[in-house]
Amino acid sequence: MSTNWQNAPMVPDSFVQHDGAATLGGVNLADVAAHYGTPLYVMDAATLRTACREYHQTLSQQYSAGHLVVLACKSNFNVGLSKLVASEGLGFDVVSAGELYTVMKAGFSGENVVFNGNNKTAEELEMAINFNVNRISLDNFDEIHRLAGIAKTLGKQVNVLARVSPGIECHTHEYIKTGQNDSKFGFPIQRLDELVEAVLAYPEQLCFKGIHGHIGSQIFELQAYKDLVTIFFERMNHVREKYNVVFEDMNLGGGWGISYTHDDSPLPIPTAMQAVADTVKAAAKEFDYPLPRLIFEPGRSIMARAGITMYGVGARKDVEGAMPFITVDGGMGDNIRPALYQAEYEAAVLNKLGQPDDPTPVRVVGKYCESGDIVLRNFTGPKLASGDTLIIFGTGAYNYTMASVYNRFGRPAMVLVEDGKHALLVERESLDDLLVNDRVPSWL
Ligand code: LLP
Repeated sequence: MSTNWQNAPMVPDSFVQHDGAATLGGVNLADVAAHYGTPLYVMDAATLRTACREYHQTLSQQYSAGHLVVLACKSNFNVGLSKLVASEGLGFDVVSAGELYTVMKAGFSGENVVFNGNNKTAEELEMAINFNVNRISLDNFDEIHRLAGIAKTLGKQVNVLARVSPGIECHTHEYIKTGQNDSKFGFPIQRLDELVEAVLAYPEQLCFKGIHGHIGSQIFELQAYKDLVTIFFERMNHVREKYNVVFEDMNLGGGWGISYTHDDSPLPIPTAMQAVADTVKAAAKEFDYPLPRLIFEPGRSIMARAGITMYGVGARKDVEGAMPFITVDGGMGDNIRPALYQAEYEAAVLNKLGQPDDPTPVRVVGKYCESGDIVLRNFTGPKLASGDTLIIFGTGAYNYTMASVYNRFGRPAMVLVEDGKHALLVERESLDDLLVNDRVPSWL
């Protein structure tokens, strides 16, 4: 059996398969690998644009009270990608001075920026206020007082959302759940009254615009979002009755899942967005509450499927009584997700597309000095040999942004492909780059 990868659920939209070759964005992938070297991240602009439009268009058509879709920059971010997603109408969800600085340097204003984070520093808050970000999400009581103090010093009023942990358990990996009560993120929803009173104590510094919740990541259950909306309306109604405060914004975070393997089958983005918008409209009606502006912060569902990683295949090691090891020229430095979350991926052999699968499964491992440096626990495909090029699908989110230079392997380059063009988004880190921050104490 051989696999036809074209249109498979984890494969970028513009991927076209031929016998022993493939193009992405109209560009021959073998040429791209030869030109930039491996390991290499390649991002398909067409897939990115489609995902951005799916969020935007569905909300424009299904929801009249306004929306803001912001890319969760933590998923994948650099100046080039910021320009691409902004050209599709997205803003930015930033969580650090670094992400905010990237937005600033790319030439955008703070108008479409939401600043999140559970321990923002005074410097970060000051930077965000001075940049006039659209919303700052308050995460804890300390932050309310700190932010109000900084706003007072700067003589500014800040538009804030309150991030709450709504007490929703969803089915995803333990490390990427965030909505449960016992979470380090957000105010426990049970303390909403206290939170409202604390914010209202600073009428000149803080303008309370709304509520924010992010229940987790790689979620397939619409019900979790519907529950979030229902909980929010119940609480917003309570806040309106008790404090006469009406929230203008409802930020439902990110989290929508993608297919990493054929076992994952999320509903399409438009279906999910429409269902959420319908739930919001029904709840607003039930509570006779003005429709809020909706904010979404998708990361993975924009970036993941758009990206692939190409690796060069190296050594093979046969082990008695166990699956053989095949080594590639990258690994946990460019993709920590298998080691951290037991993440699974599917992969194709670029130069052997259309060839029959070898019946013997193999383990694909990286070249880092860790036994946990696994790329694919169980790969079945054409027989791998040194010199082949392996494509891992679904690596556009949380791969580069979580990359490290462990073992002093520089991070790979990232290339964008679109309409027959290819160009760098990020240079490969050179040997000299690895020394840039090294300093030698004078007594050595
Ligand atoms: N908004 C907030 C407040 C978040 O914390 C996150 C992700 C997002 C939005 C975007 O979620 P997404 O749409 O990408 O699921 N490193 C992990 C994922 C961590 C997600 C952290 N927060 C991974 O590789 O799976």
